[in-house]
Amino acid sequence: MDGSITAAGTPGRVWPEDADGRIPYWVYTDPEIYARELERIWYGPHWLYVGLEAEVPEVGDWRTTTLGERPVIMVRSAPDTISVVENRCRHRGVKFCQARAGRSEQLICPYHQWAYALDGSLIGVPFRRGVRRQGGMPPDFDPKAWGLNRLRVEVVNGVVWATFSDATPPFREYLGEKFWRHYTRVYDGRKLAVLGYNRQHIPANWKLMQENIKDPYHAGLLHVFFVTFGLFRADQKSAVEMDEEGRHGILISRKGEQELNDVTADMRTFQADLKLADPRIMDVVKEFPGEETVGMITVFPSVILQQQINSLTTRHIIPKGPSGFDFVWTHWCYADDPPEMRLRRTRQANLFGPAGFVSADDGEVIEMSQQGIAPAPWDSALVTMGGREIGDTQHMVTETAIRGMYRYWRKVMGL
Ligand SMILES: [Fe+2]
Repeated sequence: MDGSITAAGTPGRVWPEDADGRIPYWVYTDPEIYARELERIWYGPHWLYVGLEAEVPEVGDWRTTTLGERPVIMVRSAPDTISVVENRCRHRGVKFCQARAGRSEQLICPYHQWAYALDGSLIGVPFRRGVRRQGGMPPDFDPKAWGLNRLRVEVVNGVVWATFSDATPPFREYLGEKFWRHYTRVYDGRKLAVLGYNRQHIPANWKLMQENIKDPYHAGLLHVFFVTFGLFRADQKSAVEMDEEGRHGILISRKGEQELNDVTADMRTFQADLKLADPRIMDVVKEFPGEETVGMITVFPSVILQQQINSLTTRHIIPKGPSGFDFVWTHWCYADDPPEMRLRRTRQANLFGPAGFVSADDGEVIEMSQQGIAPAPWDSALVTMGGREIGDTQHMVTETAIRGMYRYWRKVMGL
């Protein structure tokens, strides 16, 4: 894309004067903006979530996923190596691997059976030298130059990250030291195991999902379950932090109780007499250092790393045009968790996913946001809760992390 998009001077793409306090609605709908996001954000100098190392335990195990809009294969290519290659045959562009997961000795395109080693190098071209001295590839054809496109990969305490760009700094530097500490609080080097998946499509712009997890203000209002049972509520000790760029964020909070007090009395969604038919979902065991019971990390742009009581989940954002994204939830446990802990984490996973007691609310309200935003590109959102400054806070009545993300977004987008 050329540099012709400018905020000022292009009708419908004017950034509001109150630069940090407003978000123009065209950022969620404009196809040219979306194309630039793919180029500069998703395929630019950012680490993207691919999956968990535990998903491909043996050499030859692979799993397909999508980074930005580009299909890739995560494959264990050697005992200590995970490769991420583009799922696009170098011959004629076929997305040759259609299954979700499997195990193979080679990666073979069905169209003309070009064969690739697990690390993506091209090892077989049928009839390369022709048949009975007729046809075939020209003599200067060099298979070494025609391997699958390989991404840079870092496997960091059980999580596989990849980037399309050579300019991306090492992962730890990309997170920054503050977020490295948050990351390693849960991803501490112990082996992980997968408990299960949820998948959904949400008809809304991908940034609305990032905003949702950078927005503690809504969590204590929208979610009846959170508010009533005290998992995330404005009267609890909490904090919002971000990295120096403002792109990554974390919501931290400490669990409270189902109690009527000066704050909950004012909440429409608080229900003092609501009871759980099966209270085992709230069977919580303290396991991480510190007092906080929730750490919701947004790693820009592709994933939410969720620790809510004992449930542990990665939530992968896969954009599908400006108006929708696929959302893949991977619920995990530590490989050495005893059976009762696995069961506890699995039960608590019912809070999340497309039909979760909590997350169903988010999926619906994000869709409703897009419905309101899409027909009104000239209008803008107001994000001044907590002021206009961008920085860490010790409470949840703020939209500071949303402002931080857009400050970074505008920088990268050149807007
Ligand atoms: Fe929410």
